[in-house]
Amino acid sequence: MYIHVLGSGAGGGFPQWNCNCENCKGVRAGTIKATPRTQSSIAVSANGSDWILFNASPDIKRQLDDFTVIQPARHVRDTAITAIVITDAQIDHVTGLLTLREHNKPWDIYCTDAVKGDLTTGFPVFNILGHFRGINHHEVATDQTPFSIPTAEGIEFTAVPLLSNAPPYSPHRGNTVPGDNIGMNIKDTRSGKSLFYAPGLGVAEPHVLEYMRNADVILVDGTVWTDDEMSKEGISDKRASEMGHLDQSSDGGIMSILNAMEKPRKILIHINNTNPILNEESSQRATLNKAKIELAYDGMDIEL
Ligand code: MLT
Ligand code: MN
Ligand code: ZN
Repeated sequence: MYIHVLGSGAGGGFPQWNCNCENCKGVRAGTIKATPRTQSSIAVSANGSDWILFNASPDIKRQLDDFTVIQPARHVRDTAITAIVITDAQIDHVTGLLTLREHNKPWDIYCTDAVKGDLTTGFPVFNILGHFRGINHHEVATDQTPFSIPTAEGIEFTAVPLLSNAPPYSPHRGNTVPGDNIGMNIKDTRSGKSLFYAPGLGVAEPHVLEYMRNADVILVDGTVWTDDEMSKEGISDKRASEMGHLDQSSDGGIMSILNAMEKPRKILIHINNTNPILNEESSQRATLNKAKIELAYDGMDIEL
């Protein structure tokens, strides 16, 4: 299977439009060695021509323009996106659905009932799409039963319930229910290889660690280096953990979890603009390099 990183940044992207943190200022001015990143999304394909979109970011137009195979131009209106999987109802993962409103038939959208609830009430994107061609909702269960998607023959998808947080407009904010956030284990039954994708991970529970250990590639929450990173920069009074993101550098943080795993290739995704690892010359980036943990970048391709 083929995996293409459309956007490797967290909400806001890098640089964020209104942000003058060290990283955003530095990348804009060219005074630090760093690469801009659009907001969180990947695409997965079994055959290289039909693509499943994972999350739809506010930057989707640019992401699709930059990924030319996703526009095969077979008809006057066309796309190679055949279905959409949504892992949570956060703004950076669903706003791009509005950009996709001109589709010529209902979108096949795979998400949990909890996410569907938020997207029909607090942030009613699904209702809005109903005024265009609408959607076909395919319920994603949270009991870890594998499912398939017709246009991704040979790929087995397993939704993995994660402890993270629901969006601010969700009744489950601060009190999450299973299905508010899922990771996805994506296994190619032809090659036997699998990807574990979790852009928002607040707590690494035992069942999550098991999927990570067995994966060939992990694309996991790279939001922050330290839990208080955003408050330290004076950007937000929220800790990353309150937003449902586990930091990288603490005892029990993402890096220590990954360091204990032998098999997988380890890649961080959903990297917030405040994270010092974005500066390629930072000591934090050197620490990751030494641990053989990579950073996803926009346009990154992985074949499994
Ligand atoms: C998150 O991942 O916590 C959200 O995307 C933050 C946001 O963009 O508001
Ligand atoms: Mn996010
Ligand atoms: Zn910033």
